[in-house]
Amino acid sequence: MNGTCRLKAALATELPRIEAALAEAVASLPPPVIPVARHILEAGGKRLRPLLTLTFARLFDPAGADCRRLAITLELLHAATLLHDDVLDNALTRRNRAAAHTVFDAAAVILGGDALLSHANAIVAEYGDTRLTRCFSEATSRTAAGEILEIAFRGRTDISTEDYEEMARGKTAWLIRAACLMGALAAGAGDDGLRAAADYGENLGMAFQMVDDALDFAPAEITGKPTGGDVREGKFTPPLRLYRESLDAAERAAFDAAFAGGMMGEAEAAVIAERIRRAGYDNLTRLDAQRCLDRALAALELLPDGPQRSLLREICAAVRERKK
Ligand code: IPE
Ligand code: IPE
Ligand code: MG
Ligand code: MG
Repeated sequence: MNGTCRLKAALATELPRIEAALAEAVASLPPPVIPVARHILEAGGKRLRPLLTLTFARLFDPAGADCRRLAITLELLHAATLLHDDVLDNALTRRNRAAAHTVFDAAAVILGGDALLSHANAIVAEYGDTRLTRCFSEATSRTAAGEILEIAFRGRTDISTEDYEEMARGKTAWLIRAACLMGALAAGAGDDGLRAAADYGENLGMAFQMVDDALDFAPAEITGKPTGGDVREGKFTPPLRLYRESLDAAERAAFDAAFAGGMMGEAEAAVIAERIRRAGYDNLTRLDAQRCLDRALAALELLPDGPQRSLLREICAAVRERKK
């Protein structure tokens, strides 16, 4: 097997099982939560996080018990963060659908997210392993902390690369790290294995967010999310930093003023998105993400060789190249 064949095969086998476990979890939610949960979960999504949990569990214990129920807790947490994130970002579309807060009452969507999160927590608790519970809880609080940091950075162009990385590590990488680590924990990995799983996940997660920031300038029909949403929301992401650096002093001052004042509308965002694509700043950001992917790949070198390790390598390539 070569190229992305292994990933395609894994998705063909695992996705139906993940979907079945998710449907079961949704059906057992308190009835008022179900419509919101179905809206976000039935709209699809790549299911990357549960796939990572299953892959790490199998890597460390090929004959181990089925971890699907544990794996979907990461997708439930992810779905909750998306519900909340679209409220915070004023985003109108998600997964090629109207964002939940535009269909249901926004307060009900926030509470629905909380209920999903708590339900996921209860499932993790069934495993009776405090390390799993701690890891899941930490991912939850770190995600919230990253989102809070992003709010504090809104409209600012004086954000350093280190600031950006701290924010991205919180809002995205911690959850992906937890997805990997929880699979390894459930399979009884030793300390070195746990460290490698966490390192892989954290670096994959950082690359994942950088590529997401590149994709923010891609057509909405492909990503299922609004184009240039980050410009309108005052998020100073890597492609936008490159774009700003290309401006002359007067243009830069005008950009900073509009960005800080929340004055970027859809038309301005569309123009900037077009310029970013034409100059290739989105692709440069993908290249930059490769540095994180190289660290993720290096972490894999410490793990037992086999089909699961090959799959994790393919996931790195798929994250760099992804179109949605
Ligand atoms: C989107 O995550 C939010 C980020 C962390 C960037 P995904 O790109 O994994 O979204 P879905 O689950 O495939 O819709
Ligand atoms: C993703 O950040 C972080 C979380 C969902 C917690 P973004 O705001 O960039 O994600 P998208 O682009 O809306 O999916
Ligand atoms: Mg968002
Ligand atoms: Mg984004």
